[in-house]
Amino acid sequence: MERSLTMEIVRVTEAAALSSARWMGRGKKEEADDAATSAMRDVFDTIPMQGTVVIGEGEMDEAPMLYIGEELGTGSGPRVDIAVDPLEGTNIVAQGTWNALAVIAIADHKKLLHAPDMYMQKLAVGPEAVGKVDINASTLENLKAVAKAKNKNMEDLVAVVLDRPRHAELVEEIRAAGARIKLIPDGDVAGAMNTAFDDTGVDILLGTGGAPEGVLAAVALKCLGGEIQGKLVPANDEETNRCKEMGIADTNKVFYMDDFCGGDDAIFAATGVTDGELLQGVQFKGVKATTQTVVMRAKSGTVRFIDGDHSLKKKPNLVMEP
Ligand code: FBP
Repeated sequence: MERSLTMEIVRVTEAAALSSARWMGRGKKEEADDAATSAMRDVFDTIPMQGTVVIGEGEMDEAPMLYIGEELGTGSGPRVDIAVDPLEGTNIVAQGTWNALAVIAIADHKKLLHAPDMYMQKLAVGPEAVGKVDINASTLENLKAVAKAKNKNMEDLVAVVLDRPRHAELVEEIRAAGARIKLIPDGDVAGAMNTAFDDTGVDILLGTGGAPEGVLAAVALKCLGGEIQGKLVPANDEETNRCKEMGIADTNKVFYMDDFCGGDDAIFAATGVTDGELLQGVQFKGVKATTQTVVMRAKSGTVRFIDGDHSLKKKPNLVMEP
């Protein structure tokens, strides 16, 4: 894959973040998502690649753009698979809270898991704990393993968990183990990715969220030397059948890093839409807007933070009428 794609995808996540950030706190998650999706779609058209969406906004009949199977790019250049979440955290933007991101992962053709749109149990850790955790082990065992790997006391550990009723037992287990918890309202891609950045203060992500988000988090963690493990959680017979059609007969199957993303030719970019532990959200400053993006490449392990200044005079569509 061409190295220059790394910088190209920054333009894509920046555009999505800039457009959706205008909807912050307006209580309109669909509008925020549509703004991100259409901005992302427009920029993709200018990128020299032959891309196919494998994780997108839905099936072809459900989503007008960035649907699964949609071809993106100018049609010349590398043949790649694309996973997008134009707005990871639609509710976050609607409410103006923390950690909404515009996210893209790109890998060589046929290297990304075509994860079905259903729940997945996930366990994610940063580099120190790679190979030391097991999604089939107990919560206590995994927390002990992370504490040992990071040379921390149990009471120092922070587990990130989506704040959902389905996690009541998990939360009790973490508390009983003596670790601390960060309950997040949404956004487990950021939750997983943050485990690999010491300054975010989180050590492990546990719990169940979207399977497509698992693929995006896996590419980020591949670039960062971390790890995610996942197990699909079909909610009904229809979803169980979908798994079977995909060749996943055993829903206890554990997805490891190479199942999510094969090889190491993969890139990942995320731009902050609202403020988070890792990235500042979009700020509108009259004539300009600022963005913060993290972009990384698995092959080289390079992680770049990019600050963008965007002239609003030259992007009049980003200026909203009151
Ligand atoms: P959206 O951006 O699609 O709203 O997803 C946000 C999110 O919190 C993900 O980060 C997470 O994987 C999933 O939703 C959890 O799903 P649910 O809200 O149904 O528990």
